[in-house]
Amino acid sequence: MSERFYVESVPFAETAAVALFDRERPKQNPIFVDFESAQLKFRRRGGVDGEMVVKSFGLSPRERAGRLIVDCSAGLGTDAYLLALAGYRVLAVERNPLVFAMLQDGWRRMSDARTARGEPGLEFRVVAGEGSDVLRELLAAGERPYGVYFDPMFEDESKKGKSLPRKEMATLRDLLFGTVIGGQSPAEFLRYAMGVVIGRVVVKRPTGAPPVLLEPGPVNRIEGKVAGYDIYPCRVAPPRQ
Ligand SMILES: C[S@@+](CC[C@H](N)C(=O)[O-])C[C@H]1O[C@@H](n2cnc3c(N)ncnc32)[C@H](O)[C@@H]1O
Repeated sequence: MSERFYVESVPFAETAAVALFDRERPKQNPIFVDFESAQLKFRRRGGVDGEMVVKSFGLSPRERAGRLIVDCSAGLGTDAYLLALAGYRVLAVERNPLVFAMLQDGWRRMSDARTARGEPGLEFRVVAGEGSDVLRELLAAGERPYGVYFDPMFEDESKKGKSLPRKEMATLRDLLFGTVIGGQSPAEFLRYAMGVVIGRVVVKRPTGAPPVLLEPGPVNRIEGKVAGYDIYPCRVAPPRQ
């Protein structure tokens, strides 16, 4: 499986981008991260407070500064980027090495572009690894994030309405379902994350799909046309008296 997919540098916007290729779909356009795309610029211009992922974490713009959200399924980083634009401190964790290579490259180009425009840097970091390992490291270092975001791509996910064209989406699905073996189930991960945050855990689901956990279930769902955002409260045990 590992030979089917590979990343390679392609010329892009007077520099280069790390792009994903699929040997079984040789005619397909390369997939890469572009935080400066026209589509994301448009979303950014309109203000990101109305973005569902931002709404799902619930804090007002003033309350967000310095609050850490760990995106434990960063993928190509769009949701993490929107949260960082909204003013959160974001740590984006990605466990697939090929996806991480694209994410890190896109993040670097975006940071360089902001610097070139004289814009302040975002509080946005990317890290390779398993979400729960990174949460454990944060706890060991004495930091509890405000929120955890989880959008792991489920087997039952609908294929419509995604930001990538359908063929490219199919390549990503084949890559992710073909190479990630083992690890915690989404439900196990979620139970763990609820005991780590001080605010909330948000899980993205296809519209109409049932929550990942029913016991304890989400306290709310923000439902959009293609995705729903289940909100689970913090379940940190109170300190012993
Ligand atoms: C559907 S994509 C996420 C898309 C992302 N929200 C975006 O805006 O681009 C899911 C990604 O999460 C990663 N992932 C899933 N479970 C993970 C975990 N426990 N730790 C780290 N990464 C994980 C997968 O490798 C995959 O790249």
